Amino acid sequence: MRTVVIVNQKGGVAKTTTAVNLAAELGVTRRVLLVDFDPQRSATSAIFGNVDFDLSCYDLLFDNVPASKIIQKSEAFDIDVIPSDIMLSSGELRLASMMGRERLLTRHLAKIKPNYDVCIIDTSPTLGLLAINALVAADEALIPICPDYFSLKGIKLLEDTMTSVRQNLAARLSLLGVLVTRYRKRVITDSALDLISEYFGPKLFNVKIPENIAIEEAHNAHMPMRKYNANSKAAAAYRELAKEAF
Ligand SMILES: Nc1ncnc2c1ncn2[C@@H]1O[C@H](COP(=O)(O)OP(=O)(O)OP(=O)(O)O)[C@@H](O)[C@H]1O
Ligand SMILES: [Mg+2]
Repeated sequence: MRTVVIVNQKGGVAKTTTAVNLAAELGVTRRVLLVDFDPQRSATSAIFGNVDFDLSCYDLLFDNVPASKIIQKSEAFDIDVIPSDIMLSSGELRLASMMGRERLLTRHLAKIKPNYDVCIIDTSPTLGLLAINALVAADEALIPICPDYFSLKGIKLLEDTMTSVRQNLAARLSLLGVLVTRYRKRVITDSALDLISEYFGPKLFNVKIPENIAIEEAHNAHMPMRKYNANSKAAAAYRELAKEAF
């Protein structure tokens, strides 16, 4: 199982949008598990709507409930999902006093590894212990960046955190790539893009996800872009991303 964490502590850069649409693209040909590791449960809501599941990744981490009992199937996205729950917002505090606190997610995912080809983890816009758990559990990180809010300081902080996870926690974690999201052609955006491209070089994916209203509509319809509007530029871009990244 190849595990990819979608991470950026900046809010609203399309982490969840990328997690659910990339998972759905890969779901066409692979066995995909999506872990919603954000207490705001945006990925769970995008996929299933406002359904409250009895079990979530909170139970996986803190009550030792096996992942196999928590997993929900999504027909629309062709993937399996470990849903999130608002209870996970107490996770940072609970983890702080636990032994092996950085590796809880790794340990619990290990048992279901043989059942999947790919695991995608969606994270919240923070760099706390939950994010560290996701980074340790992952083989690779995919960083979505919205050029309109690009901050080099923020990216350096994220890179330092990834380096520290690698060095201090002996994690495999490498950078899969950096993805430009919500792209609109404007002079100011393109000057940010030049900076991003110079900074990341070959780690920047060629494909950019365009700003497209259908993305929001697909969330509300609980469908992946590949089904909601297969002919749109955004659907084509996520299809292209799946090819470039995998
Ligand atoms: N390409 C796009 N075009 C238009 N809207 C988009 C696009 N990508 C994402 N959005 C919208 O931007 C908002 C933020 O996206 P999303 O929830 O994926 O970001 P996020 O990084 O997961 O946010 P958070 O940090 O809060 O978890 C959502 O309302 C989403 O529908
Ligand atoms: Mg999100």
